[in-house]
Amino acid sequence: MATTTDLKVTPASDALGAEISGIDLREDLPEAVIDEIRRLWQEHIVLVFRDQELSMEQQLAFAGRFGELGERKRAPDALRERTEGIYQTNENILLVTNIKVDGEPIGAFGDADMWFHIDSGYAEKPYKYTILYGLELPSKGGNTLFANTYKVYDALPDELKAKLAGRKALHIHEYLRTEKVDVTKDISNSPHYYHPVFITHPETGKKAVFVDRLMTRLIEGMDPDESERTLNQLFDLMESPEFVYEHVWRLKDLVMWDNRVAVHGRTWFPKEENRLLRRCTVEGEPLHE
Ligand code: OGA
Ligand code: MN
Repeated sequence: MATTTDLKVTPASDALGAEISGIDLREDLPEAVIDEIRRLWQEHIVLVFRDQELSMEQQLAFAGRFGELGERKRAPDALRERTEGIYQTNENILLVTNIKVDGEPIGAFGDADMWFHIDSGYAEKPYKYTILYGLELPSKGGNTLFANTYKVYDALPDELKAKLAGRKALHIHEYLRTEKVDVTKDISNSPHYYHPVFITHPETGKKAVFVDRLMTRLIEGMDPDESERTLNQLFDLMESPEFVYEHVWRLKDLVMWDNRVAVHGRTWFPKEENRLLRRCTVEGEPLHE
């Protein structure tokens, strides 16, 4: 059985992320080890465990040590076909895949690239954590990119911090991966929520930027042109290499991130090749500045 001294920690990049070895996540880990993982998670934001043999039940059992498991969010009827997968039978599991059986997607998120986003950022309580396990991978691409949004906050000029303090922004999603929602139309049937532009992480007490290119569309109460310019400035900064860790997947990787401070995206991969990751989440809570 693993003890805290078995854990070996190797930083994954200068920006964020750490690879943790010396542990088998199938084990019924002692609370002290879970506490140490939680501490490392707060420090590194993204944790990578290689060579893990995990059934769906074992993945859920491990994730459940960190809080209440998140339920897959149901899209409104009009958008449902963009999100449903015929093999998604467990409400706590989402299959991140481009695989189809008899022409029907078995999971969600399809092929190619995906813009930077926050998981369920359009909801009142975005997931706290996302935990993804690699089952089938393409020969190239399909890397997951993570931005450290604490560092983005710290890098903002003081005037911009002052300008955005106390502001909220609209997060909205219609389940497309590289397309923004048109918010000049009636958005009442599209999942959306206003969150503070800056959040204080409830456990670390540190401030972070909480916007993303895919889903954040407007800064409330700001002139639309200025809002667009300001958001683009934040997105460009967030996605610059100094703040990003690019995870190149290997089979049996378990990658888990703090969804409040790791805005993430995906690089392109060929649609002819299968990619399958098994995702679960931990429920979140409303966020505050
Ligand atoms: C996710 C996600 C990225 C990927 O599962 O939430 O954004 O690399 N996945 O498929
Ligand atoms: Mn995601």
